[in-house]
Amino acid sequence: LLGLHTKKIGQNLHYEETVDSTQKIAHRLAQEGAVEGTVIVAEEQTAGRGRLARKWYSPKYTGVWMSIILRPAIPPQHAPQLTLLAAVAIVQAIQEVTNVLPDIKWPNDILVNNKKLVGILTEMQADVEQVHSVIIGIGINVNQKLEHFDSDIQHLATSLSIEEQKEVNRAALMQAIFLKMESLYEDYLENGFGLVKHLWESYSISIGKRIIARTLKATIEGHAKGITNDGVLLLEDDNGTVHHIHSADIELSSK
Ligand code: BTN
Repeated sequence: LLGLHTKKIGQNLHYEETVDSTQKIAHRLAQEGAVEGTVIVAEEQTAGRGRLARKWYSPKYTGVWMSIILRPAIPPQHAPQLTLLAAVAIVQAIQEVTNVLPDIKWPNDILVNNKKLVGILTEMQADVEQVHSVIIGIGINVNQKLEHFDSDIQHLATSLSIEEQKEVNRAALMQAIFLKMESLYEDYLENGFGLVKHLWESYSISIGKRIIARTLKATIEGHAKGITNDGVLLLEDDNGTVHHIHSADIELSSK
């Protein structure tokens, strides 16, 4: 990526044609001591991983499939903040490079017209007190046509080129993401989570709305009030009880 004006993110870039999962490679490199800001990017993944043990389709030359290694000095419970930081950076970068206006769905989906455009998978290596590395996996559907998606997910997924009706330059998009991420990350290390939290809430489609959250244990409907500093969703039900949602699939309620 010629002319990349970042200090850290993307300066150590591993480019691969085909890998099983950039996330897996990033874990290995982090273990071996890779510097902060190391990025692994691939044209194709044969075993791309999504959240909740789901598969992530990563066909050749169509998307941005990459993993970024960060080494913040934070306690493990703050690691989800970096997922939110990445989401904000990606939304800003997409708005800069295209005319698409995506929004964020808690915890880590980026959608346009309610269809999935980007997935983020954050994993870490840590002990109880301190994070050793956070690995942020980012999958962006860029130049897929509708028929590239399996027919059963065509109504759920989209790409930047479907939305823009023209091809989008993947390298330009990556550069924009690295720059946005770096400036948000510098602010985060210096001043904490405040700016990211504020921006994230402003891009979120769920905050301030009535939603349904399906957790492993229960389905709760109510008003999404905001997120905590640990990235936990605050959901107030009709009895006024505020639930702390750590993991769930959410959708907007039609009521
Ligand atoms: C999700 O379930 O929404 C998260 C999807 C994350 C996909 C990206 S693609 C690059 C990186 N490598 C992987 O195997 N997964 C992440």
